[in-house]
This record gives sequence, C-alpha cells and structure tokens, in this order.
Amino acid sequence: MERLQKAIATSGYTSRRKAEELIVQGKVKVNGEVVNELGYKVKKGDIISIDGKVLENENKVYYLLYKPKGYISSVKDEMGRRCVVDLLKEVKERVYPVGRLDYDTTGVLFLSNDGEFTNLITHPSSHLEKVYEVTLDGLINGEELHQLEKGVYLEGAKTLPCKIRVTGKDMEHKTTILRIKLIEGKNRQVKKMFESIGFRVKRLHRLTVGGIGLKGLKPGEYRILKPQEVKDLRKLALEKKRVGRKNS
Ligand code: URA
Repeated sequence: MERLQKAIATSGYTSRRKAEELIVQGKVKVNGEVVNELGYKVKKGDIISIDGKVLENENKVYYLLYKPKGYISSVKDEMGRRCVVDLLKEVKERVYPVGRLDYDTTGVLFLSNDGEFTNLITHPSSHLEKVYEVTLDGLINGEELHQLEKGVYLEGAKTLPCKIRVTGKDMEHKTTILRIKLIEGKNRQVKKMFESIGFRVKRLHRLTVGGIGLKGLKPGEYRILKPQEVKDLRKLALEKKRVGRKNS
C-alpha cells in the first residue's frame, strides 16, 4: 500500500507535488471513482487514471547511455531532431532522460521510467557529483580558474564552489583541456560558466555522474544500471540532500 500521490509520482507521470494538486483538483480516479483525499492509500492492482488517462504500471527500469553528439535529451522533438530514446531500441518500457545534456554534449546520461528516481537525482538540492571534460577555445590562467571555482553569477545566482583540474594545454592551437567537478546542474551550466569569463566551450563530455562512468561503452551504446548502482545513486542523492539542508 502506498499513498496515491506517491504512486502517481513513481509512475513517472509527474512530481509528487503536482500529483497532490491534481488530486485536490479532483482529476484523479482510483478504480473509476474520484479520489480527492491526499492520504488515500492505493493497493497493488488498483487502476489510477488522471483526466481519464490510465497510468501504466510498468516495471521500473534504469539505463546508462553513452550519449553521442547530435541527439536531444528528450522523448520527441518538434523540429524532427533525433532523440536519445531512439537509441534504446530494444527497451520496451517508456523511458525518458534523467536530466539533460545539450545536443552537442556527449557522455553519461541515465534513462528511466521511474519518476521518483528522476526527481530525486535531478532535484536542485541533490548535490550529486558530475564530472565533465571540457575543451576550451583559449588558454585559461590560474586566476580565471580560481574565479570559477569560487563561483560566478549566472542570471543573478551564484554557482556553488566547484573543482577544476587542467589536464592539457595546446599552445599552438590555443586550447585548454580540463576537468570540472560540479555538484549542481543548472541549464547549460558548464558552457555558461566559461562564457561568463569570456571562454567558449568547444567540446563537452560528461565523464561521470555519482561516480558512474562509461567503461566498456561506445557512443550510442547503453547498459542496464545494476540494482546496486541505482541504490547507491539514490543513497548519494539523499545524503547530499540532507547535508544541503543542514548547511542552508
Ligand atoms: N553543462 C552544459 O553547458 N551543457 C551540458 O550539456 C551539460 C552541462
């Protein structure tokens, strides 16, 4: 037995908070009857519908994809561009990306049909570590790196402290390769951080999320996340959430 709003969120339909709104608005039915009570408990086999649409009770699945360039992190695109879900050909469940990478960004991307997992991993208060490899147009100096590490203002809000390590410099072509470790995931954050101090990102690749990397995978390939990996990711996201709450 679980609470109705949790069952809706777990199905991936929407967040728990939005599910609560839908329930209060009388849009949710259980076995054909409107239920607008937030504490209502659903049992296995109950049929939940929202605005007349029945929620599917699929098995929860979790994948790790090596996202290649030229795909959008979505399930469909109005402009007809290729979507990451098109790469998971043998997966029959309706999975969707857990967070997003830009069209031209490569690397670690999780996909799942578990809405609660997605909310947990992508929630701003879950400070799950993400490591990116960045190729910059230009030679960056120590002072500029320090500025980024301390935090820069993007659209009025300061980025959280991060760690950067330069791994290579090409003096002839004037490019820098570096690794940046972030604990937040604002929209296009890496590119915007470098843009804010006058650098263009030429190439962006996500190496790890929560310590999970791409070992054994080629661009476009995917694998099932092991139950232990899913458990660890959940644990890390929850831990970081608690730490964040304590320090805020
Ligand atoms: N930061 C970006 O700028 N782009 C991405 O795809 C991911 C992080």
